[in-house]
Amino acid sequence: MKELSLHILDIVQNSVKAGASEIEIDINEDILKNLLEIDITDNGCGMSEEFLKTVKDPFSTTRTTRKVGMGISLFEAAAVQCGGYLEIESEQGNGTSLKVFFEYDNIDRAPLGNMAETMITVIMGAPDINYVYKHRKAGKEFVFVADDIKNALGGVPIDSPEILNWVKEYISEGLENAGINM
Ligand SMILES: Nc1ncnc2c1ncn2[C@@H]1O[C@H](COP(=O)(O)OP(=O)(O)OP(=O)(O)O)[C@@H](O)[C@H]1O
Ligand SMILES: [Mg+2]
Repeated sequence: MKELSLHILDIVQNSVKAGASEIEIDINEDILKNLLEIDITDNGCGMSEEFLKTVKDPFSTTRTTRKVGMGISLFEAAAVQCGGYLEIESEQGNGTSLKVFFEYDNIDRAPLGNMAETMITVIMGAPDINYVYKHRKAGKEFVFVADDIKNALGGVPIDSPEILNWVKEYISEGLENAGINM
């Protein structure tokens, strides 16, 4: 079973390719409602209404290297196999928002995976983007804003090895302190 964080990486990759300068990843673990929701929103180029209609189809891609684009289809399949679903809204020139819902306690739901690792992986891939990561669980919240860290760094690149290591610890500890155990 593929960890959900690996799907998040794929979807963030789409936003990077779409030229986004800000990408927000919102995770909400609502145990009372038995719901896990993952939202990924970007301010990239967006999609035409026409393209959006068929985007969930595996043969819908603007890739030139191959004819199959699986990122969205695979994430949707992971949700559907445990009673969930995936929604996409997109507006050309404005950006895209993808929301994925999972039945929290479904035995076929993949584990979330390591979000601290995921965040440093996306930062390494495209360090200039302002990543916003919000994670809520049982009334607690952890928020990470890459631009806040960059401002505090006063010119030291966020993707230097020491800083990335610090970011990883910061996110792991932040989640732990908020009672959001991975
Ligand atoms: N955030 C986004 N902004 C703009 N276009 C997008 C976005 N996400 C997906 N798309 C469009 O939808 C297509 C399908 O995306 P999907 O992730 O399913 O496959 P892919 O990225 O083409 O290939 P793969 O994910 O397998 O590498 C993309 O080729 C792109 O044209
Ligand atoms: Mg993709």
